[in-house]
Amino acid sequence: MSKLFLTLSSLLLILIRSQPGGRTVLLIVLRHRDTMYLVVLGCGQVGRALIEMVKGRSPLQVLAVMDSRSGVLSAPQRHSSGDGLSADVLRSIVDCKARSESLEDAARPHQSDCAAYSLDDAWNMVLTTADTRNVVVADCTASGETSDSLTAALGRGAGVVLANKKPISAGLAAYTSFVGFDARFRWESTVGAGSPFVTSFKRMVAAGDTIAKVSGVFSGTLGYVMTGLEDGKPLSEVVLDAKAQGFTEPDPRDDLGGVDFARKALILSRMMGWTTEMADVQIESLVPEACDPSRMPLDAFLTEGLVSMNEAFATRAAAAKGRGCVLRYAASIEGGSVRVGVEEVDRDSPLGRLRGTDNLLVIDSAVYDPTPLVIQGRGAGPQCTALGVLADALEIFSSMGSGPSPK
Ligand SMILES: NC(=O)c1ccc[n+]([C@@H]2O[C@H](COP(=O)([O-])OP(=O)(O)OC[C@H]3O[C@@H](n4cnc5c(N)ncnc54)[C@H](OP(=O)(O)O)[C@@H]3O)[C@@H](O)[C@H]2O)c1
Repeated sequence: MSKLFLTLSSLLLILIRSQPGGRTVLLIVLRHRDTMYLVVLGCGQVGRALIEMVKGRSPLQVLAVMDSRSGVLSAPQRHSSGDGLSADVLRSIVDCKARSESLEDAARPHQSDCAAYSLDDAWNMVLTTADTRNVVVADCTASGETSDSLTAALGRGAGVVLANKKPISAGLAAYTSFVGFDARFRWESTVGAGSPFVTSFKRMVAAGDTIAKVSGVFSGTLGYVMTGLEDGKPLSEVVLDAKAQGFTEPDPRDDLGGVDFARKALILSRMMGWTTEMADVQIESLVPEACDPSRMPLDAFLTEGLVSMNEAFATRAAAAKGRGCVLRYAASIEGGSVRVGVEEVDRDSPLGRLRGTDNLLVIDSAVYDPTPLVIQGRGAGPQCTALGVLADALEIFSSMGSGPSPK
């Protein structure tokens, strides 16, 4: 009986209204609560992978897709009947954005089905015309500018999921405000590229386990570089190889500097209730001052800068090997301090056994003692990141009391 009520309540809004004469009438209003509407914010690698996963998966619909300049929504007649962007429009968006064309270009051949708007107008339409209680906004950007819009969406009752670390690795006040939305806010793919690091850690903390230490490798690029050094390869060769395989940012110094890695460690420390700010995180950059982007153009770094770093790293790796250890660029969150940098670790430890681009989370706690909880998984890639985003969105959807699981 209660199951029946839950199912009905997800489909219908039931209003009980008193009438003159003491009669009570039941008003039943259809709310399209069996449909989950996704707003895909950012249409790069992760946003496109998310669209591919969602396309044609009833009852999921894509309400809007936005990039740094504009947004595409379904045409008013589709919109008013509860339909999101059609499969044809989504195909066109994915194909155009993969070719670095604009969302306007993607929308142009489908003018009866959809329309392109400026970014601000698209946001206004999403926030004012949709029943935001069954809308989830997926931030698949790398932007520091999305927080206000995400806050507005949450304020209107929508859910928010992040692949983008910046909203929760900026000031502590923003983090506290976002996580305060509790069941409507998720951030699995910000650490570990969608491998279930955040959810597992969150459950342990929520259940009251005492965390003694969190360590891990949260960068596929730096993992790849460190295993290359372990294999005796020169740093320059490994970094250029990683770049050729698409594992690095266009400027590999963005990875080697450690700031992106530090954001992930910061997020985990905050999840334990620590009041850490980015300035508190000790970051060891692998990039020497002379090779800093302010002093050396990218071309020179790739041809000369990297080579100038080879000897120091080869010496460090050989010294570690002599002690039965290997080098890992790792996070260490313990005793109130958060550090990311190169560590010598035992070759037979979970960190030492890690190879390639995989990520690893190691949690030492009161319950997980003496053997820590170890979670390992892919550390990069649009598909696994989008999978984490989608899993988060589905969880929010079901916590909103909405309809059946997607087929
Ligand atoms: N790729 C991975 O394997 C991976 C793994 C783990 C986590 N992540 C995280 O996932 C996020 C997305 O990564 P990605 O590789 O997909 O990045 P990307 O290819 O650079 O795409 C970023 C997208 O965000 C859009 N954008 C930028 N500012 C925006 C704004 N203010 N409003 C709306 N859209 C905006 C960009 O628009 P334009 O197209 O107009 O430039 C672009 O479409 C990042 O935060 C990244 O750290 C990625």
